[in-house]
Amino acid sequence: MSNFALVTGASGGIGLDLARLLAKDKHDLVLVARSEDKLKEAKSSIEKEFGVNVKIIIADLSLPEAATQLYDEIQKEKIHIDILINNAGYGDFGSFASCDWTKQERMINLNVLSLSKITHYFLPAMIKSGHGKIMNLGSIASFLPGPMMSTYYATKAYVLSFSCSLANELKGTGVTITALCPGPVDTGFVAAAALEGSKLFHSFKPMTSPDVAAYGYRRMMKGKLLAIPGTMNKLMVTSVRFSPRKLVAFIVRKVQEKR
Ligand SMILES: NC(=O)c1ccc[n+]([C@@H]2O[C@H](COP(=O)([O-])OP(=O)(O)OC[C@H]3O[C@@H](n4cnc5c(N)ncnc54)[C@H](OP(=O)(O)O)[C@@H]3O)[C@@H](O)[C@H]2O)c1
Repeated sequence: MSNFALVTGASGGIGLDLARLLAKDKHDLVLVARSEDKLKEAKSSIEKEFGVNVKIIIADLSLPEAATQLYDEIQKEKIHIDILINNAGYGDFGSFASCDWTKQERMINLNVLSLSKITHYFLPAMIKSGHGKIMNLGSIASFLPGPMMSTYYATKAYVLSFSCSLANELKGTGVTITALCPGPVDTGFVAAAALEGSKLFHSFKPMTSPDVAAYGYRRMMKGKLLAIPGTMNKLMVTSVRFSPRKLVAFIVRKVQEKR
């Protein structure tokens, strides 16, 4: 069995930048997303630039059975996943009462269900081999209530809680888990979440995706649980620990509302 790193949501944004960092360190890759053309482009440019082997799998991980199908496909290829990056995810801006439920349900499937299932499938072989690294994409939303994006913030709270618990369970196994929790990042996320009109990306200067990926990658390689890129984000996360949740929800709403 050969070792590969698996990155979900690798057709663009933070996932693609993480894939490039892995390739630079000579890791062979399995890249997953829905956009076949973008994945093919990523495969050829990464293989050419870094000389590693890149496999692509087209999958819509917002469908409940997609994670199982992904695992089966990788098993057939006789590949061992020693680094897993659960990066695919999206948000949706708007009040919960008026939201498109299908979009919320698919978001929960992607951000929570598939992330958990994929981890569940690949973790036992990592433990058996005595080493492995997992990164889950949280957000500063993991630490906050998020009016006008309530489901998204709740999915990211799950990711952080889940990652912290697993870090404890995995002590001494050689497998580490990292929750990368960025603030606003300049990627396709804004359009996917219909956030163009929100104050969020105008009130805070977004970080660049390569910077966020590089920070997260370093933390993952050191086996650190938390990766919060940027001083402002670190300060914000610390300050909300001591603030009433109602007040935090009020402030988040003010920041997120339409301009
Ligand atoms: N950008 C931010 O401000 C920010 C802040 C904090 C956390 N995050 C988190 O960072 C992660 C990456 O987001 P990003 O900012 O890089 O956004 P992005 O540029 O929109 O990238 C999202 C990636 O996920 C993939 N994806 C989306 N839906 C999918 C599905 N149903 N099945 C499989 N793949 C899917 C997309 O590819 P396809 O469209 O080709 O499927 C794309 O490769 C997400 O989990 C997001 O919540 C982002």
